[in-house]
Amino acid sequence: MRTDDQSNLLSDTAAMQTGGSEGGGHQQAPPRRIPRQRHATPILHFLSTQAFASPFDVNMAVDAGFKVVIPHTNAGLEHTTGLVQDAIFSRPVEYGCRTGLFIGGKDALLALDMLAAAQAALVPPFQLSAFADPGGSFTTAAAMVALVEDVYRARTGRTLKGAKVAVFGATGVVGFAASIIAAQCGAKVTMASHIGVKALEPCVRAGRKRFGVDLKPVAAGRAGDKERLVAQADIVLCAAAAGVRVLTRKQLAKSRRLAVVADVNAVPPSGIEGVELFDRGRLLDGSDIASVGPLAIGDVKYKTQAALFRSMLASPDTVMLDFTHAFAKARKLIRA
Ligand SMILES: NC(=O)c1ccc[n+]([C@@H]2O[C@H](COP(=O)([O-])OP(=O)(O)OC[C@H]3O[C@@H](n4cnc5c(N)ncnc54)[C@H](OP(=O)(O)O)[C@@H]3O)[C@@H](O)[C@H]2O)c1
Repeated sequence: MRTDDQSNLLSDTAAMQTGGSEGGGHQQAPPRRIPRQRHATPILHFLSTQAFASPFDVNMAVDAGFKVVIPHTNAGLEHTTGLVQDAIFSRPVEYGCRTGLFIGGKDALLALDMLAAAQAALVPPFQLSAFADPGGSFTTAAAMVALVEDVYRARTGRTLKGAKVAVFGATGVVGFAASIIAAQCGAKVTMASHIGVKALEPCVRAGRKRFGVDLKPVAAGRAGDKERLVAQADIVLCAAAAGVRVLTRKQLAKSRRLAVVADVNAVPPSGIEGVELFDRGRLLDGSDIASVGPLAIGDVKYKTQAALFRSMLASPDTVMLDFTHAFAKARKLIRA
């Protein structure tokens, strides 16, 4: 059912399309030729499932062109439909792509559920575009895997298909997203958690049910577990919490086939000993292992996130962006 406000809005929209009825004189105003959307203030509604909205993401959105960013904190799946419809019905239809929704927080699956709910809540012809990137994880994981893919190809001539990839810090948002992206590239992914296999069960279930990939969970709290895992891997991705040393040089030395390691942690000490901030294929001292560092990843992450925000504003139609779009963009940026 359409409310009075909505009916007025649709009439306004029709009036605007035909040049409006202002003036009421003999001569009809000429139709406006300029697409109205270009003049509409770009507004971003930031749904965060946490008690705050990440300043990083607010800054990124404004620098990409959003003029107004509104944080809605402690937002959940149950709020998404109402907030989306509140946002779309208040603006003329032509403004659709100038209204955006960003979904942050620290829960990858919840963010994807909220993105799906946002899409389902749209009432054509009213529209908006949405982008999920909880904790920056989708763009960070996308940048990490895209860079690793590039360095691995340069080192071995191979793609990620069939590569054995071990992910440390896999229960985190970045580790989870990186595991899914790598598995979707055909890698054989082992997810490692320092607190045991049980913590990984929901991730493995989600991998199979939602993304159609098989992920192997392993416990990696002890030095022996880590050594065994590293020894069998072609690639190691470290996505553990900031400032936590996960792998030492000694543990890497046990590797038999390791070609590339990547670490997203920029806070000392590094997650992987020997990885430096800007590494992008440098060989770790005295080894054949190529390294990818957190600020090399951060650079691609930053450009990917900025490009996705800009694509929301540039698209005349609804776009719904998740880690698959982030990965496609990161790959493009790296190959450009
Ligand atoms: N370079 C960039 O551009 C960029 C961008 C965003 C984030 N980051 C970094 O990416 C990393 C992951 O982010 P996140 O938000 O997913 O992190 P997080 O939630 O803080 O932690 C990720 C995972 O680290 C593991 N962990 C936690 N404490 C540990 C400990 N004491 N020892 C060993 N492992 C521990 C846990 O996984 P398990 O239980 O599975 O072991 C946890 O789920 C962080 O270092 C963050 O600073 C980098």
